[in-house]
Amino acid sequence: MAGIELFGQEEKKEVLDVLETGILFRYNHPKERMGHWKARQFEQELREFTNSKYCHMCSSGSTAIQLALSSAGVGAGDHVIVPPFTFIATIEAVINLGAIPVFAEMDETLCISPEGLRKAITPKTTAVALVHMLGSMAHLDEITKICRENNIMLIEDTAQALGGTYKGKSLGTFGITGSFSFDFFKIITAGEGGAVITDDKEVYENLHQGADHGHNHQGDNRGAEPHPIIGFNYRISELNAAVGLAQFRKIEFILAEQRKHKAMLKEAVAAFPQVKMRDLPDPEGDSATFLAFFLPDEVTARKVYQEFNKREVAGASYWYDNNFHYIKNWQHIKELRAPGKLAIEFFERPQDYRTMQLPESDHVMQRLVTLPIKVNWPQNEMETYIKNVKNALKAVLG
Ligand SMILES: Cc1ncc(COP(=O)(O)O)c(C=O)c1O
Repeated sequence: MAGIELFGQEEKKEVLDVLETGILFRYNHPKERMGHWKARQFEQELREFTNSKYCHMCSSGSTAIQLALSSAGVGAGDHVIVPPFTFIATIEAVINLGAIPVFAEMDETLCISPEGLRKAITPKTTAVALVHMLGSMAHLDEITKICRENNIMLIEDTAQALGGTYKGKSLGTFGITGSFSFDFFKIITAGEGGAVITDDKEVYENLHQGADHGHNHQGDNRGAEPHPIIGFNYRISELNAAVGLAQFRKIEFILAEQRKHKAMLKEAVAAFPQVKMRDLPDPEGDSATFLAFFLPDEVTARKVYQEFNKREVAGASYWYDNNFHYIKNWQHIKELRAPGKLAIEFFERPQDYRTMQLPESDHVMQRLVTLPIKVNWPQNEMETYIKNVKNALKAVLG
């Protein structure tokens, strides 16, 4: 839960700056806003943090991934490779653009596997929406190589992995774009909000124009300028940006605390030889929001999860049964249910989502259990938590 554990005077101060001027809009009113440009400031700080050339804030992580795809040129009829384990927004974004999601198998990184990516490529593949799930990274060396060799755009959905790195480089900077979410449950929150980073000037122009009805934002006179492209309203408000800015300035502290706490919990869980830890291609770059591990089989994983619940191990998750994060229960997606006709119904699709099988992904997900990592974790609470985790594992694994 990270950021929301740390609300304090800093968030209040940033929000009050905005309320005192009354300028809740991120554009225009240069005099009245008395120097407060919260969205712009956030963008500058996120750019510096990730070492990216450009950044644009928007209304959510969902709009961020959709804008990222559209700004890179993904459109109707394109095949976009997606993972079966992600928050549903990644898939919705592809469908909303009239592009066709092509599901790839995942591996024990909890992300698309290099082999899964290779097998999912079709002659119409233009992009892969690679999600760095639960705070950590995919096998990026192989994946970037496959993308290069096959002329596929890498679009990173980094909604869950702000602060994560691979070999010292920020997640979200390996592809054309990286997108982030600052919703209520993320490592930092703006209440609602998102951002996209890129090093590509043309993509950046598409991003800020696409997020604001195509306005080109030249000068501080938005509204009078030309509209080079069709866009929509995916803007962030200054109030949300203000909360996000205060939260963002705590990111190094959050990461350090999470990493410390995760190491303690990991030590306790790893002491059980039947447990296998999640594959982390670069352990140092893990943002450490979760401890993810595998049990030998589905039956044992379910037992461990039940035992965690019995012993009040808060926040334990068995994602295989989850409604929003794994394909098994995405019936509405499998049947393409929507109030009106969807553009993708007019295109041939390489997979029948209702009958498609992903046995490798099922094998990973059936054995997966995760525990959340808190930032504010008093020593005594953490000790009790770890004791309950150990007792639960002992009860099942012996
Ligand atoms: C991987 C991923 N992509 C996109 C989103 C959407 O972000 P938001 O909730 O800000 O719209 C989320 C949120 O959970 C996510 O986890």
